Amino acid sequence: MVNCLIIGHGAREHVIGETLVNGGANLFAFMSYKNAGLEDLSKDIKIHSESDFKKIIEFCKEKNIDFVVIGPEAPLIVGIVDALEKGGFPCVGPKIEAAQLEGSKIFTRELLDKYKIQSNVKSKIFDSIDGVESYIKDMGEENIVVKPEGLTGGKGVKVYGDHLFSKKDILDYCSELVDKKNRFLLEEKCDGEEFTLQTFVDGKNVIGSPLVQDHKRAFEDDRGPNTGGMGSYSMEDHLMPFFNQNDVNEALRDMKKTVAAVKEETGVEYKGFLYGQFMKTASGIKLIEYNSRLGDPEAMNILPLLKNNFIDICWSIINGNLHQNYEFEKKATVCKYLAPEGYPVNPKKDVVIKINIEEIIKSKAKYYYASVYREGENIYTTTSRAMGVLGIAESLEEAEKIAETGVSCIKGNLFHRKDVGTRKLLQKRIVHMNSILNKK
Ligand code: AMP
Ligand code: GLY
Repeated sequence: MVNCLIIGHGAREHVIGETLVNGGANLFAFMSYKNAGLEDLSKDIKIHSESDFKKIIEFCKEKNIDFVVIGPEAPLIVGIVDALEKGGFPCVGPKIEAAQLEGSKIFTRELLDKYKIQSNVKSKIFDSIDGVESYIKDMGEENIVVKPEGLTGGKGVKVYGDHLFSKKDILDYCSELVDKKNRFLLEEKCDGEEFTLQTFVDGKNVIGSPLVQDHKRAFEDDRGPNTGGMGSYSMEDHLMPFFNQNDVNEALRDMKKTVAAVKEETGVEYKGFLYGQFMKTASGIKLIEYNSRLGDPEAMNILPLLKNNFIDICWSIINGNLHQNYEFEKKATVCKYLAPEGYPVNPKKDVVIKINIEEIIKSKAKYYYASVYREGENIYTTTSRAMGVLGIAESLEEAEKIAETGVSCIKGNLFHRKDVGTRKLLQKRIVHMNSILNKK
């Protein structure tokens, strides 16, 4: 038996843990909140800060851990992998230098520029207000995205037309960043449809998985503030009606070039999961951002479809011997997140939620604990997304129905987006993509 440790406390880590256990692992979990799903799956757990590397190494020694999988980005970008590997514990996740692909938007844009990676977009770095106005003039204010350097939990990026509506808005936001001594990028705004391509990377090989589309906005019909993602879907052919195999190949080509560039530039191999968020535009595939981990919710769309043993994949990532023949079931998935009322602006925390486990099992939906904690027999909300519910079926319609039935088995002060995975929303995306491509 292999002793695996998962770091992290959300639904992404719950599904990673489940996939490891399905592969035959003895699971252990180290997390800052008690994820009930991970607690049930694990031989033992430790509730403690996910960035306390000394404590994690002690736990690894105590439990005789064979390898560690790191779920979230926060410990990755401060060097958890470097610390644990120094302590003798192999990790599935990039070292600090390589994790800059997520940790530093400036590092990524400069790298893509230097290595002439095609899906890059125009951008310029600023650390003062000097030159901002003339750059806006050159680009046209309606073509501007402002991105603060560093992790901003999805809240720092501001896009013209979504959050900024005039040159003054752009300048005000840039001045705010200058005042906070935060460097930032002004970046070319792309128009199109976004997709997530999650890959397994062993330093050289980059292996793709089914395409997923996430839903960032809090409310139905893509209204309301941005969130960590309210739900996501994937299709039985692993593509989307508006993304074809050529699009995937272009994205994969650039991810491979990026991984090679990271090695060339830093001397460090990128190992772990690499998440590419791309947009298909009238002028081709564009990179929106990289994440140095699996997506949340998107991990739930791919790991349950994996036909190969995930433990073998983890060892291959560590040992640098991934091959090309991994398989995912040809099924559709729909994941819906239940979030506390008021999320993301003013979420109601410490509210009890009730899960009718018997009914949810009957519905065939899978359910994953996210930012909720267990105390005694009860599950309570925190300030973030609470439960992920997943439907898997031969078609999107069926998967969506299963997810909705599953959602109806969870009660509490929660809301979700009924439209995720519906034909109606898919049709809207098809029309949007066609209008973009026809404008060419
Ligand atoms: P990020 O944190 O980089 O994922 O950005 C958050 C959201 O802002 C993305 O999901 C996109 O919808 C949007 N966004 C980021 N960069 C761009 C861009 N260059 N053009 C258009 N939209 C963007
Ligand atoms: N769902 C977006 C992310 O994981 O970053």
